[in-house]
Amino acid sequence: MNKKTVKDIDLKGKKVLVRCDFNVPMDEERNITDNTRIVAALPTIKYLLEENCAVILCSHLGRPKGEFKKEFSLKPVAKELSRLLDKEVIMAEDVVGEDAMSKAKELKQGQILLLENVRFHKEETDNDEEFSKKLASMAEVYVNDAFGTAHRAHASTEGVTKFLPAVAGFLIEKELKFLGNAVSNPVRPFVAILGGAKVSDKIGVIDSLLEKVDTLMIGGGMAYTFFKAQGYGVGNSLCELDKLDLAKSLMEKAKAKGVKLMLPVDTVVGKEFKEDTESKTVAWTEIPDGWEGFDIGEKTIEMFKEELKTAKTVVWNGPLGLFEFKQFAKGTNEIAKVLAGLDATTIIGGGDSAAAVKKAGLQDKMTHISTGGGASLEFLEGKKLPGIEALMDK
Ligand code: 3PG
Repeated sequence: MNKKTVKDIDLKGKKVLVRCDFNVPMDEERNITDNTRIVAALPTIKYLLEENCAVILCSHLGRPKGEFKKEFSLKPVAKELSRLLDKEVIMAEDVVGEDAMSKAKELKQGQILLLENVRFHKEETDNDEEFSKKLASMAEVYVNDAFGTAHRAHASTEGVTKFLPAVAGFLIEKELKFLGNAVSNPVRPFVAILGGAKVSDKIGVIDSLLEKVDTLMIGGGMAYTFFKAQGYGVGNSLCELDKLDLAKSLMEKAKAKGVKLMLPVDTVVGKEFKEDTESKTVAWTEIPDGWEGFDIGEKTIEMFKEELKTAKTVVWNGPLGLFEFKQFAKGTNEIAKVLAGLDATTIIGGGDSAAAVKKAGLQDKMTHISTGGGASLEFLEGKKLPGIEALMDK
């Protein structure tokens, strides 16, 4: 990585503002249902404490659209962080208001302060200069460790870097190492598995990975657009009619590049979008009218498994079916199991594919599970992430 990290500057005893991605899922009672992103921020926080810093943390949670909304408060995060560190985490009642400013001012070395949700101010997403300046005024150094938000040019990820020395934390360093190595220096055969609902969300990543992989497997809702593009009926399955030409051109590009493009050969279809709906497996060319494709079928699972056996690097982004419903989770779960048993580097893009791997209890069996959904996708597309670009070069 060509960006400075916390190891490259003297932080001893300094007041440090750290941008984390504490955008964690919560249930209706506001209990955190997956603390992965909080756990992932610990190495940097612990290092700063060892360096005797006064640590000011900030993050967004959800999309409160510039208004204070209790259900988007970071208080449950402060509680969880305090439990994980076995240490008090002081919570500010606001972001750059009186409470936050005075708590930041009084914060001593070795203490931790968590500011409220930065998106309670619309100036955050507007990347407002005054707001960035106020955030920066609390500290002497800025550390960005919010990989999951690095694709957003917001005040706390980008604007603030104009006013403070800005370096990366260990999580950003680790994400770039694994994702970066996988795509720029893959041990071959290099296989990418792409799923998810829409082709339109994945155009960039398909296009970019076709330059690099040996095999590209496609599953999930977006496979039906590829079926339709070849002239077959897809029943009520998800299908983007305005992307048929694009699907065709991606298939042609794969051919021209010598990439093995693998589409499902069978699919599990259901009558309705319901957990217990009637279902059956059909060939991809024979989806009946009135039925909707929800998963890859057995033959496809076997075909993908066979191909994966020899893979040495695998990048997976997007579930292969409607894994939230048990009867349509098989494709996603089976492929997760195969990856877990491979003697290969296995990189899981964040978001839904990470959730699926965790649901299957296989997270410890993968080389790396990214904490970034949109961010990892944009990185794999080869885009520059503004939150990282803005940091100091080595
Ligand atoms: C995420 O969950 O992908 C990140 O926290 C970014 O959230 P956003 O899409 O609301 O910017």
